[in-house]
Amino acid sequence: MNILGINAYHGDAAAAIVSNGRLIAAAEEERFNRFKHSAGFPEQAIRYCLNAAGIGLEDLDHIGISRDPSAHLHKKILFAATRVARLATHQIKDRLGNAAKVRDLKDEIARVFGVSKKQLGARFHNVEHHRAHLASCFFVSPFERAALLSIDGFGDFISTMWGVGEGNSIEVLGQVEYPHSTGIVYTATTQFLGFPHYGDEGKVMGLAPYGEPRFINEFRRIIRTEENGQFRLNLDYFRHHAEGVEMSWDEGSPVIGQVYSDAFAQLFGPLRAAGAALSDRDRDIAASLQLRLEEIAFHILTHLQEQTGLTDLGLAGGVAYNSVMNGKILLNTPFKRLFIQPAAGDSGTALGVCYHIYNAILKSERGEVMTGAYTGPEFSDEEIRSALQGAALSFETHSEEDVTRRAAHDIAAGLVVGWFQGRMEFGPRALGNRSIVVDPRRAEMKDILNDRIKKREPFRPFAPSILEERVGDYFEQTHPAPTMLMVYQVRKERRDEIPAVTHVDGSGRLQTISREVNARYYQLISDFAALTGVPVVLNTSFNENEPIVCTPQQAIECFLKTKMDALYLGNYAVRRELNG
Ligand SMILES: [Fe+2]
Repeated sequence: MNILGINAYHGDAAAAIVSNGRLIAAAEEERFNRFKHSAGFPEQAIRYCLNAAGIGLEDLDHIGISRDPSAHLHKKILFAATRVARLATHQIKDRLGNAAKVRDLKDEIARVFGVSKKQLGARFHNVEHHRAHLASCFFVSPFERAALLSIDGFGDFISTMWGVGEGNSIEVLGQVEYPHSTGIVYTATTQFLGFPHYGDEGKVMGLAPYGEPRFINEFRRIIRTEENGQFRLNLDYFRHHAEGVEMSWDEGSPVIGQVYSDAFAQLFGPLRAAGAALSDRDRDIAASLQLRLEEIAFHILTHLQEQTGLTDLGLAGGVAYNSVMNGKILLNTPFKRLFIQPAAGDSGTALGVCYHIYNAILKSERGEVMTGAYTGPEFSDEEIRSALQGAALSFETHSEEDVTRRAAHDIAAGLVVGWFQGRMEFGPRALGNRSIVVDPRRAEMKDILNDRIKKREPFRPFAPSILEERVGDYFEQTHPAPTMLMVYQVRKERRDEIPAVTHVDGSGRLQTISREVNARYYQLISDFAALTGVPVVLNTSFNENEPIVCTPQQAIECFLKTKMDALYLGNYAVRRELNG
């Protein structure tokens, strides 16, 4: 039985295919069409998933999308009736247009792929956005029973949903409705601080440790807690509920209009223009926002834990990318274990849709546990070789054992190494298959990476990958973090040893790595440890201000464009010094 799940007409469009319960493939559209966070319809991601499964559209038994225009319809109508007069006509048209496409998915697929509707024998499903999120963090988790929380901007009129998963069903226990949302508060503040792009929230999270939370009382007024895990915004500080905010979910990168109101700007003074110098006030706003988000999250989670009595937690939604918050959950709530699949945000709803259909609707037994993120395209030796020859590069060919040793040696010698191996990752983090890897002992590596390749704001930290069994030697918490979605404190005595991956507050957004999950990357770090005594490397995504590379050709282009020193593609190695 073949199930296709998609996230479409929404940021981070994506597709996933599950065959007989096994996750065969999942990928974001941005990796194919090269628009960051691409919205629109995930045509190329679907084609890739079908290819990986070796099937055609006609072989699909079920097709689902993580939107349900009919969910909470009565509330939407009620809300719209009071506000619609203030929305511009084109906004209404955009929204209705997208809702129609979601509803008529069968027509859309037939049109995009040029097939007749008769050829599509699959049953079609609209899965409510947050139910897809909840499914994505439970059905592929190792937990038989778990408390579940989905928390983001908005999807299908809901910002936050929690419940309990058991076996092959999920019961929803609570939710927070539009216009109240933690994601919206984070987005509004991110915009106010001069970071206008979709997905810039992570920059503000990186900025927060430089500030003091002296505006915490302001943020407690902006978003306040209520009983039963609920919270409410003070709507005076926002525009999204009243005037509507322009959101473009067409092809290309999403664009979101201004969310904060004049009152928000009055509260904090003049906004920071994009690119202007950061002030103490800006850093303190970031710190206060981050603290308030954590307070709200622990408020919801404490309620959820009391309601369920469970100590295992599955977490999803865009706010689950806040790895600083995630890293504090086990310290601040009674939860003991935490599962976050790598595509915790909206792309992961494609995966959630598949398992919602497979487990919750069809009542099939569970069997898949997602331990890694490696569900994307892979390339044969022959394809890699022909890409290298096509670029007229001279290269070395190494044996299986040699390649990690050679790369580890390069890293220890201070080279910037591109590391392209196996299947591409699903979700925003490069986890050792589409990574740039350097020596974490060298403090100057941050500047070298920024100058030569990444061009990121200097305040943003770089992340460590560490052998799973050595986590306790370097970090104050040891719960595995295989998807790089937890920030822990680096042990004080280790901070000087790995300065390039230790943030200003002594923290690190780590990836723990085991041989079972990624043997080759594990071997690379083991070889580096054998050389240096340090079981840690700096891992940053393989890209230059673009979506992470997918193909060998893109990796080679990035290598040539930037000043990377060496590039390992499978068992092949390219050195800059040999290629001018
Ligand atoms: Fe979402």
